[in-house]
Amino acid sequence: SSAMAAERALAMVTCTAPVNIAVIKYWGKRDNDLILPINSSLSVTLHQDQLKTTTTAAASRDFTEDRLWLNGEEADVGHPRLQACLREVRRLARKRRGGSAEDAAPLSLSYKIHVATENNFPTAAGLASSAAGYACLVSALARLYGVEGELSEVARRGSGSACRSMLGGFVEWQQGERPDGRDSLAHQVAPETHWPELRVLVLVVSGEKKQVASTAGMQTSVDTSPLLKHRAEVVVPERLALMMRHICERDFEGFGQLTMQDSNQFHATCLDTFPPIFYLNDLSRHIIALAHRFNAHHGRTKVAYTFDAGPNAVIFTLADTVAEFVEVVRRSFPPATNGDQFVRGLPVGSASLPEELLAAVVTEPVPGAVRYILHTKPGPGPQLVDDPSQHLLGADGLPRRHA
Ligand code: DP6
Repeated sequence: SSAMAAERALAMVTCTAPVNIAVIKYWGKRDNDLILPINSSLSVTLHQDQLKTTTTAAASRDFTEDRLWLNGEEADVGHPRLQACLREVRRLARKRRGGSAEDAAPLSLSYKIHVATENNFPTAAGLASSAAGYACLVSALARLYGVEGELSEVARRGSGSACRSMLGGFVEWQQGERPDGRDSLAHQVAPETHWPELRVLVLVVSGEKKQVASTAGMQTSVDTSPLLKHRAEVVVPERLALMMRHICERDFEGFGQLTMQDSNQFHATCLDTFPPIFYLNDLSRHIIALAHRFNAHHGRTKVAYTFDAGPNAVIFTLADTVAEFVEVVRRSFPPATNGDQFVRGLPVGSASLPEELLAAVVTEPVPGAVRYILHTKPGPGPQLVDDPSQHLLGADGLPRRHA
């Protein structure tokens, strides 16, 4: 058993967890407290080499209160969703221990905990997904208390989309039917190795504005949008089945088209919400048009965009198209020459664009609008970090100094 013995003064676990991007979007709850959705959703888990959250959870009889640090800054532990995750992990630990006597002296559930969490990407980039954060918190707490098995149900209590970050590759969150949410779980549709050519480009845009938070936005949509109701009841069930087939067959054109259509319908439900919510802006629309011109020039779907409740664009493509499309983005949004790397993450080869492609695709460049491009790919689910030197908390249970 991985449970720490009670006589240990300090037990500490560090985990990492990934970001995920939905290709069939979750938008709308049928239960706000349990975070039960009105439709199933499907996402791609992104590789943690480029985007990850790291969380250290520690328990000690010497701690006098629960404490939390986000990117080095102390934060409020009283957040109801955080408390729900903590309560649920402890409940599972108690249940597990009740069932067997194998843990003679398990970590006491009454010890206070310290949690430190940080992202390997700038929070200012607007990628600081609550999904990776809660998936990581739940993974670390579960390890700390020696809980194994189905944990997406617990991560879901932190943030709906977090349940999908509990698995790697291609993941479906099945909405479930039960009022108690026991069947509202994430399942892996295919592992990250299933589609080795699939690539992801995150276009991190400059100049963010304050957005309507997804939790509040989707509630207003549920209350007011007839399109959202139709989407959840009729459109999503059809699209999910279709999307699973495209993924299974590695059909990029089918996958890409449906990804764009579902992103567009999500933003249509936002416009159908009253008062309306706008997550797409002029730059988003520029990127959408660019992708369509690029595909039209090639006569097939070679890139697909998707947008969530923020201004960054996520592009899916195949490895053989990355260099060309990155060059198209560079020409369309000439970077400010301030020395910052414009292309980050996985290496991108160089491509020279034929004149006729430039003329057809790159119209009206907007200098500086895209801050940088992050090149990544599908990746695995949460990981345990074995190396104790990677803990975010020191032996005193307080955050270590970091750059
Ligand atoms: C647009 O999971 O952030 O990214 O459950 O209220 O925490 P809560 O919402 P959240 O919503 C994500 C919405 C989305 C689509 C998606 O990821 O499926």
